[in-house]
Amino acid sequence: MDISKQKPGTLSVWAGESEPFAEGSHTVPIFSSVTFAYKNIDEWNEVAKGIRDGHIYSRNTNPTIRVLEEKIRILEHAEAAVSFSSGMAGISNTFFALLKPGDRVVSIKDSYGGTSRLFLEFLPKFNIEVALCETEDHEELEREITKGCSLVYLESPTNPTLKVIDLKRIASAAKKAGAITVVDNTFASPVNQNPIDLGADLVVHSATKYLGGHSDTLCGLVCGKKELIRKIFEFREINGASLHPETAYNVIRGMKTLELRVNRHNDNAMKTAQWLDEHPKVETVFYPGLESHPGHKIAKKQMNGFGGILSFELKGGYDNVKTLLHNLKFVHLAASLGSVSTLAGPPRTTSHVELSEEQRKQLGISESLIRYSAGIENAEDLIDDLKAALDKI
Ligand SMILES: Cc1ncc(COP(=O)(O)O)c(C=O)c1O
Repeated sequence: MDISKQKPGTLSVWAGESEPFAEGSHTVPIFSSVTFAYKNIDEWNEVAKGIRDGHIYSRNTNPTIRVLEEKIRILEHAEAAVSFSSGMAGISNTFFALLKPGDRVVSIKDSYGGTSRLFLEFLPKFNIEVALCETEDHEELEREITKGCSLVYLESPTNPTLKVIDLKRIASAAKKAGAITVVDNTFASPVNQNPIDLGADLVVHSATKYLGGHSDTLCGLVCGKKELIRKIFEFREINGASLHPETAYNVIRGMKTLELRVNRHNDNAMKTAQWLDEHPKVETVFYPGLESHPGHKIAKKQMNGFGGILSFELKGGYDNVKTLLHNLKFVHLAASLGSVSTLAGPPRTTSHVELSEEQRKQLGISESLIRYSAGIENAEDLIDDLKAALDKI
């Protein structure tokens, strides 16, 4: 049954699950078997050769994992999908499967820290050049792309200052230059943004975040053009960064409520950002949903919702950051994002602690910046909590 034309709320529940499972199971069965038995070796041989559908060994394919891959494939309007043991496994496998020595990558300075380390430390070891542009400088990105490259890697909105890139514009420049465009869509989720519709060839997700949704599962997903996914899948078969079927089940269960959760995250983040924006103790709020945000117009054009993450700078120094964070009741002071519970922390001493002061300055990460991943709690409670903590400053 082709359900690909349905809305995200329906797809979150039904994509990959529209046919009944073994024994009429209503939920996706967890096939924990590592190997799959055949009564007939000719049949086994046909599966091995890809003539017949089936599974042989769970490092390569597994029925539970296939449901998850199908779910993200349909939600992201992609031709094919492949899963990984973490978001970073998905990102690094994508690079090492598609790039070769002598290639050139164009990307942005504000990529997720792990991805930036691949760009700065690991890809150069394989003689792959990486040009990192100012994230919102579309002219610089286009100039670097025109010089020649094989892969353009983008994130929008970015971490932690929520910078926005016109994905259609940059994907179009990449296409003209014969380069593949890869977009990390973790922050937006497929409910808020579909990069393939904007011209991307591949979309990557840290499914650890919104897709899983409960901060209890590490998982990476990559989807897009069939031919590219085949190469990435073949590399993963050998590289071995496969997902465990039970983990796949957790992500499938999380994804069933994806649309419900993301709409609530969007709503909570918007209300919180608007409230903080008016507060006298807050210097700046970074949230693409605010009209004052430099990327608001682009975000409005390419996103269905502005996402659940915002960041803000307090007036005064780091002591005020500590006072605020230590007095919040409904927040875990923790890394990661996209959980049902609100998570917050200061990027300067957490996610970006390894950067120099100068590097942090270039990315706009001051000592008074706080990243806030709004959960699905009640917005009034979250705002009351922030109000009470701000009153302590
Ligand atoms: C935007 C983004 N991409 C990729 C990753 C890496 O994902 P994982 O932690 O699942 O390896 C993260 C993790 O925080 C992230 O925020």
